[in-house]
Amino acid sequence: MPTLVIVGAQWGDEAKGKIVDVLGDGAKFVVRFSGGNNAGHTVIVGDREFKFHLLPAGILHPGSTAVLGSGMVICPRSLLEELDRTRVIQPDLGTLRISSSAHVVFPYHRMLDQLEEEARGENKIGTTARGIGPAYEDKVARIGIRMAEFVNPDRHRKRLQEVLAVKNRLLGLFGQDPLDFDELYDEYAAYAERLTPFVADTDVILQDAVEAGERVMFEGAQGTFLDLDAGTYPYVTSSHPIAAGACLGTGVGPRAIDSVLGVCKAYTTRVGSGPFPTEQDNAEGARIREQGKEYGTTTGRGRRCGWLDLVALRQSCRTNTLSGLIVTRLDVLSGFERLPVAVAYRLRGTTIHHLPADVADLAQVEPIYEVLDGWDGDLRSARRLSDLPSATLRYLEFIEDHTKTPAAILSVGPDREETIVLRPDLIWG
Ligand code: IMP
Repeated sequence: MPTLVIVGAQWGDEAKGKIVDVLGDGAKFVVRFSGGNNAGHTVIVGDREFKFHLLPAGILHPGSTAVLGSGMVICPRSLLEELDRTRVIQPDLGTLRISSSAHVVFPYHRMLDQLEEEARGENKIGTTARGIGPAYEDKVARIGIRMAEFVNPDRHRKRLQEVLAVKNRLLGLFGQDPLDFDELYDEYAAYAERLTPFVADTDVILQDAVEAGERVMFEGAQGTFLDLDAGTYPYVTSSHPIAAGACLGTGVGPRAIDSVLGVCKAYTTRVGSGPFPTEQDNAEGARIREQGKEYGTTTGRGRRCGWLDLVALRQSCRTNTLSGLIVTRLDVLSGFERLPVAVAYRLRGTTIHHLPADVADLAQVEPIYEVLDGWDGDLRSARRLSDLPSATLRYLEFIEDHTKTPAAILSVGPDREETIVLRPDLIWG
């Protein structure tokens, strides 16, 4: 099974970075396929902590190639900063390749992201303000600037001139001063020069790798319910974090994917606005936030916290056709006497087992909970299933039964070592 997709099975921040780092050791290619520097992945190796926004966490494995796929939108400034910062901590990194079809994020995208959010008032999405939505809008409107053009000075100049003329008019409507072309071009041309050696037709590189039977890991960002179509629209990101996005955003076809693993927390969190049925906006939610240090890697915002939602998780298993689940942050739930878990919703007197597509309905659903026993003690030293308390084992079985999906890996702490692999057959076969 040489191709493996890792996706977030909830609303993002499921600790995918750690998992990709652990599994990336066996991969020849580690590939990001959607989003941009709205993502935030933390990887802890011994006493070193890495924070990634654009680079695949797999860059830490010197023998592998980290690919930024065609489905991404890339801020060159933050990519270069991240590369420089990572090299200071670990000089020996994997090879980097950036898709010539990926789109470039410019400062006007970030400005418009903020201005549009302000204009939405109380309906704001709570974006990360990194210009992600506006960059994808340009892609769909067919005026975006792709990496291939960006690293060609003449084409970069011409395209930026055309696009900036439009964007400055738009900024004017929001009462903003126009951006100066020469200043912007000079700054971005310098970034383009540094990025030139990395830009390649990565679709072909990956298709060759798949044909050659190399191990390729697709690293999802965000999560299933932030997907533009499968998520809680409009409170979503502007790309496709679901498993199908791995194909859309890399040029590798669906029949080439062997295994799909979904990363989920043992509870649920969400950043930004939008319905969240099992949210605990109370002392228990605050306790999860403090025990789990649930603050955003990208924005530092406190995450909204709540109980595990098996309605959502089951739907995620189906949307992504998950081969297995990777259950993270089990250690964070230690000390809770009781653990309610949502198994269905009530909507206008009817019991349902899916997330209604209309957010107005989703905002109204009442979760139906089953309450499981909690557990005590520090799980971080557990290295085998038998090291876990019996209540933790029951909690895991309950998840497997309700989602009809096996647990493939458990994470009991942030470090690489704090991992229990249950189903190696679902990883690289
Ligand atoms: P955007 O991706 O910045 O446009 O933000 C859209 C929504 O997705 C907001 O609710 C963000 O908080 C959320 N979001 C974007 N990236 C992430 C992530 O990596 N983890 C969790 N939430 C995210």
